[in-house]
Amino acid sequence: MKTIDELLAEGVDGRRVFVRADLNVPLADGRITDDGRIRAVLPTVRALTEAGAKVVVASHLGRPKGAPDPAFSLRPAAERLGELLDAPVAFAQDTVGPAAHEAVEGLEPGRVAVVENLRFNAGETSEDDTERGQFADRLAALADVYVGDGFGAVHRKHASVFDLPARLPHYAGHLIATEVGVLKKLTEDVERPYVVALGGSKVSDKLAVIDELLGKADKLLIGGGMAFTFLKAKGYEIGASLVQDDQLPAVREYVERAERNGVELVVPVDVVVAAEFPDLKTKAPSSPETVAADAIPSDRMGLDIGPESGKLYASKLADAATVFWNGPMGVFEHPDYAEGTKAIARALLDSEAFTVVGGGDSAAAVRILGFDENAFGHISTGGGASLEYLEGRTLPGLAALED
Ligand code: 3PG
Repeated sequence: MKTIDELLAEGVDGRRVFVRADLNVPLADGRITDDGRIRAVLPTVRALTEAGAKVVVASHLGRPKGAPDPAFSLRPAAERLGELLDAPVAFAQDTVGPAAHEAVEGLEPGRVAVVENLRFNAGETSEDDTERGQFADRLAALADVYVGDGFGAVHRKHASVFDLPARLPHYAGHLIATEVGVLKKLTEDVERPYVVALGGSKVSDKLAVIDELLGKADKLLIGGGMAFTFLKAKGYEIGASLVQDDQLPAVREYVERAERNGVELVVPVDVVVAAEFPDLKTKAPSSPETVAADAIPSDRMGLDIGPESGKLYASKLADAATVFWNGPMGVFEHPDYAEGTKAIARALLDSEAFTVVGGGDSAAAVRILGFDENAFGHISTGGGASLEYLEGRTLPGLAALED
């Protein structure tokens, strides 16, 4: 994989460089609530502008349906990029149309233009190779060189991620190079004990990585909504908690395999429950109660791991040499259900381990809950991408940068 350093050594002065970033930031009422992904691409953009490139930044945002949708405009992200760069950033109201061409043609060396959301074009995500290829041709017309730096999207076989690099000289940006370097450490020569904390709502999203980790990790700590499928698999009553009944056989098999392989699989011993899901908009106080994991009342739903579980998980993390954490332990967006996630974050900060926080939600949780993100070994910008990397899968966006 050629990196941006090689490109910079070749020289980019006056050349149009297409940077495929992942500026898929969380928005509330049109305002960015966490700009981590924008900051993550700054080293690449700055290196290129300082070397005199004309930089064309492109990204998806959300999941619009292949046509323009103002709710998913990249404009707020482009504005934030300009603030962070402390430089004007042009914004094109289309992706490959006249506005994009005008913006790129108007670029002085060392300046940046952002084009509108890639997913406003059906060709970006099409499963049809020809349709994707046609859109990639139109993207290719905007630039002379491609730099892949949208790590969060490398698991997508999309036109800007997979097809476009084949049409232009291509290089990995600083972010992708860093992310891949870190994940290689976890897959190739991990220092033990290797402890993985997995949260998030759906077991089905995590099945493949759990499958892989049962052969790699020393301890697996389970939290978040998916913990309730594990508790049900143990035969516990889980009340009105989130559950994926269709995953129960898989989860039972994991529990057995963990035992056979000597992997410590840890599930909550207590949980914070409530009668209703909290209002995340108003964050109005709710009525949380803490109960033992095997005593969840039938009319209550579990919304966080309890304090004893937090302590237990912290003790399991204390002697780790390497930690990977993906997914919040509870509904951290509401203060009544944020303690479990905070307990994991604190335990990671207290440990001497090399800590990797993977995933949009857990990375955002770390920042939103007020932790110093620089105190963690590495905060990945990729949720699905980092999980699929750990699953050992070939990621289209990395494969495309290889050759
Ligand atoms: C993410 O948020 O994980 C990436 O930006 C990819 O987004 P997607 O899941 O909509 O492809």
